[in-house]
Amino acid sequence: TKGIITIDPGFKNTGSCESAITFLDGEKGILRYRGYSIEELAEKADFLEVAYLLIFGELPNKEQLEAFHVDIKNESHVDEEMKKILDAFPKSAHPMGVLSSLTSALIAFNPISVNVTSNDEMYGAIVRILAKFPVLVAWTLRKKKGLPLDYGDDSLGYVENIHKMMFKKPTQEYKRNKIVIDALDKLLILHADHEQNCSTSTVRIVGSSHAGLFASLSAGISALWGPLHGGANQAVLEMLEAIQKDGGDTKKYMAKAKDKNDPFRLMGFGHRVYKNFDPRAKIIKQAAEEVLADLGIEDPILEIAKGLAKEALEDQYFVDRKLYPNVDFYSGIIYRALSIPTEMFTVMFALGRLPGWIAQWREMRLNGEPIGRPRQVYIGEKLRSFVELDKR
Ligand code: SDX
Repeated sequence: TKGIITIDPGFKNTGSCESAITFLDGEKGILRYRGYSIEELAEKADFLEVAYLLIFGELPNKEQLEAFHVDIKNESHVDEEMKKILDAFPKSAHPMGVLSSLTSALIAFNPISVNVTSNDEMYGAIVRILAKFPVLVAWTLRKKKGLPLDYGDDSLGYVENIHKMMFKKPTQEYKRNKIVIDALDKLLILHADHEQNCSTSTVRIVGSSHAGLFASLSAGISALWGPLHGGANQAVLEMLEAIQKDGGDTKKYMAKAKDKNDPFRLMGFGHRVYKNFDPRAKIIKQAAEEVLADLGIEDPILEIAKGLAKEALEDQYFVDRKLYPNVDFYSGIIYRALSIPTEMFTVMFALGRLPGWIAQWREMRLNGEPIGRPRQVYIGEKLRSFVELDKR
């Protein structure tokens, strides 16, 4: 602290806002959306219901949920010109970069997303992005696979429709697999919000300048991309595959993670808030075992993951620093079982987090929060006079 300014790198001890959306207790491993436990919601609700709950504060009744879904379906077309922008990307482009750009590009075709002052304008912008973002996610995947860009089917449920847009083969009927759809639905619920994490804080601070909803979300997607945040789920799978290639030598990777001279971190471990266990990781670990069993998949990667988690539990370095598996540690194992390519894992995180970002952005705007503008402590040069070029 210098004078009145307190420096708090990473805002480890700084609260940015009051919020009524998500409650976390890092010591007890508690996560609740609008007061409902994540365990109950993951078991009993579906993703669209949870999106409504996060954004509007209450679980919808039948009519409200139906009307919400109809309003979303009415906005599920994406301007055909957006395909030209998608086409401009090389196939090698990372889907998170593509989606951050396409989310921003959507503004040009949806001016309502810019000045959302009235409730109607805000609602209009919200249903549009909940309808169009999944289409962009599906198009991004299909472009990578060289498949024609498909539209949804209004007769399907919200998550089932996303799965169909992503995976329906052009020449075959769409085959609904309940196990897969239920697993996807549960994963999206578990990722839906997490109070003031890096990407949500980004969405709030960009929105605090009264930049539009889509512009704020585009910034959030970029923040989530980082390997220390949502990008960790892709990094976890790459790490587990590297260990597998190394003959399952987990000890070598544990040693690397503890070596201060080695920038390598055990991806999927540790959390700023959870200092005992991440409740989402517990549910996802269980779901991974069930989904693989139900689909009859023997994935040695799961065994390597479980071995790593067990070793970390018994290792002083990890125990001292309270580093346990987080939401990203097991999720990739399920995505792999659902035939989602590794490069799309963080996109699936963004798809799940979308309602949470929207809810937090809406709360910030309805609360009339001031523009985010932190202070600093200056440690640079004192006043000095300019020196002409030929004298330097
Ligand atoms: C998400 O914030 C959220 O809520 C995020 C999220 C959400 O839902 O939005 O939960 C999603 O981002 C989960 C986290 C995914 N990231 C990873 O799995 C990447 C690996 N983990 C970390 O890099 C780290 O644990 C963070 C980023 C998650 C948390 O970092 P902090 O709180 O800033 O902790 P830190 O970097 O100060 O680490 C404290 C100590 C350090 O050692 P010392 O300097 O004290 O000796 O723990 C060590 C770190 O070196 N450490 C690790 C480690 N994580 C922390 N050492 C090895 N491997 C790790 N994974």
